Amino acid sequence: MSTILNKKIKILSKKEVAPNIYLAKLKAPEISQEALPGQFIHIKCSKDNYPLLRRPISIHRIDKEKGEIYILFQIVGEGTKLLSQRAVGDDLDVIGPLGNGFNIYPESKKIMMIGGGIGVAPLLALCEESIRQDKEVRVLIGALKKELIVGEENFRILGAKIDVAADDGSYGYKGLVTDLLEEIITKEGWLPDQIFTCGPKPMLKKIVEISLHSHIDCQVSLEERMGCGIGACLGCVCKIKTKDKKEDKVKYEFKRVCIDGPVFEGSEVVWDD
Ligand SMILES: Cc1cc2nc3c(=O)[nH]c(=O)nc-3n(C[C@H](O)[C@H](O)[C@H](O)COP(=O)(O)OP(=O)(O)OC[C@H]3O[C@@H](n4cnc5c(N)ncnc54)[C@H](O)[C@@H]3O)c2cc1C
Ligand code: FES
Repeated sequence: MSTILNKKIKILSKKEVAPNIYLAKLKAPEISQEALPGQFIHIKCSKDNYPLLRRPISIHRIDKEKGEIYILFQIVGEGTKLLSQRAVGDDLDVIGPLGNGFNIYPESKKIMMIGGGIGVAPLLALCEESIRQDKEVRVLIGALKKELIVGEENFRILGAKIDVAADDGSYGYKGLVTDLLEEIITKEGWLPDQIFTCGPKPMLKKIVEISLHSHIDCQVSLEERMGCGIGACLGCVCKIKTKDKKEDKVKYEFKRVCIDGPVFEGSEVVWDD
């Protein structure tokens, strides 16, 4: 597990890469050394105390050599709007790296990553690490329309095979990214050893169904509203089912997305609550 740090980290660059979606590079010498793909940082978005709560944002890229991390975020409310208004040169007050991160199994050869909308954010660091470990990587990116598909080129540069799906047919595959996944598995016969995914809950739920049907291990990164980000307030719990092997029965428990997650085995997540 990584050491959790509270640091002021400088914004080195910031760019609007799609409407209301920003990519920022941050100088984070200590956090970058500790960070694992799938972890996040908890950011104080403004310079004053409004909003009071920090906002969780995934670590998009980790550059240990330069001591830098990147974040990719979408404006959805007050906190992310204030974050987008912070200037290059500002220091951001962050806590991190937080959470467990993705688990790439050594025996996995073929890896599929699926990002829905801004859900691509934690997958770039994972893609970089998977390719470093010589895995064959395919990435599916889905969004409502072409202009909301972000990061395609960055995955391609790393050496992954990319397919995109736009719900409205404005780019790539016409339809849902989950339909594209089904076609790749059933028609192309490309069966990954592991699937990693992040995005809207209905998409995650469907991907887990597909993975269970095809006997593919699937890890999902969940997003819940957060308070403390460090396991103390119970503001971020999700329902998880596990098998009690001794008693041979299913048991349910609540887990904290901030420290037990955000990455969970897809088969263990209870979606319908
Ligand atoms: C582990 C984790 C990693 C994340 N990584 C990223 C990332 O890399 N990039 C990114 O753009 N976003 C990410 N998010 C989501 C991001 O934290 C929220 O969009 C942000 O906190 C919203 O703050 P706000 O003040 O702008 O909006 P608010 O005013 O707080 O809310 C605006 C709307 O967004 C919804 N919302 C708020 N927080 C969340 C949440 N945590 N999950 C789902 N819906 C929410 C609210 O219900 C409301 O409808 C992540 C969330 C988690 C839990
Ligand atoms: S946000 Fe407080 S326990 Fe997870």
